[in-house]
Amino acid sequence: MKVLVVYNVVDLLDKGQPEDLLAEQETKIVEDAVANSLRSFGHQVVSVPIRHELWEPLREFDPNEWLIFNLCESIRDKTYLEPYVISVYEYLHFRYTGSNRLTLATCLNKGRAKEILKAHNIPTAPFQVIGPPTVRRQLDFPLFVKPVAEDASLGITLDSVVENERELRQQLRFIWDTYRQPALVEQFIEGREFNVTVLGNENPRVLPLSEINFSQIPDPKARIVTFKGKWVEDSDDYKYTQVISPAKVSDSLKEKIVQVAVDAYRAMGVRDYGRVDLRVMNGTPYVLEVNPNADLSPDAGIARAARVAGMSYAMLADEIVRLAAHRYRLKEPRPRIISLRLKARSAGADGVRAIPVSAFKADKKPTPQLERVAA
Ligand SMILES: Nc1ncnc2c1ncn2[C@@H]1O[C@H](COP(=O)(O)OP(=O)(O)O)[C@@H](O)[C@H]1O
Ligand SMILES: [Mg+2]
Repeated sequence: MKVLVVYNVVDLLDKGQPEDLLAEQETKIVEDAVANSLRSFGHQVVSVPIRHELWEPLREFDPNEWLIFNLCESIRDKTYLEPYVISVYEYLHFRYTGSNRLTLATCLNKGRAKEILKAHNIPTAPFQVIGPPTVRRQLDFPLFVKPVAEDASLGITLDSVVENERELRQQLRFIWDTYRQPALVEQFIEGREFNVTVLGNENPRVLPLSEINFSQIPDPKARIVTFKGKWVEDSDDYKYTQVISPAKVSDSLKEKIVQVAVDAYRAMGVRDYGRVDLRVMNGTPYVLEVNPNADLSPDAGIARAARVAGMSYAMLADEIVRLAAHRYRLKEPRPRIISLRLKARSAGADGVRAIPVSAFKADKKPTPQLERVAA
């Protein structure tokens, strides 16, 4: 198949904090990994870096011949333009991997996303969206305060957990001033935290669960994934929030988590691949957020979950192309390296073929590995 790997190049940010660039500059690494993987599977690949212009670079390609592998998380360094990028693909009649603009736009606004989850009876923490200047608190402390429309733990520190009016106001002010947007204020969910990778469309499949290992952090209110914990490798936050994959969970909890994650994936209309972050309190998994087009860095959540399921990074990239091709009823590319044995054992309704079925069975308990989580 002919695949255009379209990704955004980030030079500077118009808001937030200087270190937030760390999170934004991952796209180049991912572009390399995806392009090389797809080539290894025999696809014809051209990478298209997007800086300020989107229309011109795309116009050089025939949309009937090329499928876009969409790695554009922002344009002109604005994350809120992510859905606009999709509008341009559609206007130019390109087919593309991942979610459509409605899903990207609603998931980008965590308040909107939570309204949709609530309407579908999917558990998510009680919340309020609070913009400047008034603060009318309706929820009881402890609360969690974050920017309503950022990701990658931007703006998240131990101060995000607030236990009184003064701390709440201080954190709201920080979010408003630094990120120039309202804050999402949620009930603090005290408990275990999981990342759930979902692949597919009509028949989404959940890859082995990952859990953040907070066991080295004694204070339950400090058991959160801060910005440093996600990105700054020599920080304590990073050291003490390693990821265990596959997570050690009882079958009954696993079943609940899988159900909630798939329900959330469907409710938000996610396509091809995504990651659902959730925390479990009193046996109920509460969805924190749904990440369509979630980070495909080789060391991030989706790639790790795929590896645990016996699927290499290259197989994962190829699988995403296949899922998109299948949605558009394009003639599917033939895999070069997936063994027949794997194919036969795991052919699914969506054409998800590369994941061995055994990876989904509860009795398969590979040795847990400690690895990093990323956005
Ligand atoms: N309501 C909450 N209760 C407890 N911890 C939370 C809550 N919301 C977020 N967190 C913590 O903050 C981290 C980042 O929040 P999340 O909503 O996933 O945003 P991001 O898009 O930045 O990943 C989570 O991984 C979790 O550790
Ligand atoms: Mg998250």
